[in-house]
Amino acid sequence: MNRRKKIYEGKAKILYEGPEPGTLIQYFKDDATAFNSQKKAVLEGKGVLNNRISEFVMTRLNGIGVQNHFIKRMNLREQLIREVEMIPLEVVCRNIVAGSMAERFGLPEGQALPRSIIEFYFKDDKLGDPLVTEEHITAFNWANTQEIDDMLATTLRVNDYLSGMFGAVGITLVDFKIEYGRLWEGDFARVILADEISPDSCRLWDATTNEKLDKDRFRRDMGGVIESYTEVARRLGIMKDMPRVIEGGVS
Ligand code: TMP
Ligand code: ASP
Repeated sequence: MNRRKKIYEGKAKILYEGPEPGTLIQYFKDDATAFNSQKKAVLEGKGVLNNRISEFVMTRLNGIGVQNHFIKRMNLREQLIREVEMIPLEVVCRNIVAGSMAERFGLPEGQALPRSIIEFYFKDDKLGDPLVTEEHITAFNWANTQEIDDMLATTLRVNDYLSGMFGAVGITLVDFKIEYGRLWEGDFARVILADEISPDSCRLWDATTNEKLDKDRFRRDMGGVIESYTEVARRLGIMKDMPRVIEGGVS
């Protein structure tokens, strides 16, 4: 694995050159960061869980026609993906007030929103990923109006599908963050879903107890992070593929 050429290293993942042109290998690390890396830890098994959960979610989305970069999982920590030109935006969709929205507007966490709200953040750690408007996005050429419309429409579809998928296993999809990239075909670029969808990038609450089953357990020092990610995988019916992770020691 480490013989491959490293293309990019982020906080939770590494991208390596893929076996064929137009492909990359996405490696999921156990590293966890929060609040722009002010808080850091290694959570043994997180990468394995997120690799498998993201595979499951991306495969399901592909099945309903939401194109994404996922091609196939290669092993416990790696997946083969299509190479795309990343759009430097974090697209957040919220169904229930939580996190930065609760803080920004002084609202209680847990309040249902009258409709799903989509926000764009400019992906730049040095700036702390600031909230931006569509005016900023087009003025600074991060994406054009057609691409913004495509991202909005796809994000709503993803939200509808994932809300139902998680709802069916007793999990409330409170909010999530996704990222998009351009898939070039000649002179034409199509915007497709990229990155990952996992408990690192979603807020997932037990539908009965509202217990948090996502990265907020790490952000808020609640403990039981791996146990919660494992519970999400178990409810999605995919724990049988990685029985040794819960016991630790898988690398
Ligand atoms: P927020 O409430 O902190 O803005 O987060 C909204 C959603 O986006 C939540 O599901 C967590 C996710 N998220 C990320 O995936 N990466 C990030 O860097 C941040 C700040 C949030
Ligand atoms: N992704 C982190 C979070 O969810 C932010 C960071 O990396 O600092 O809080």
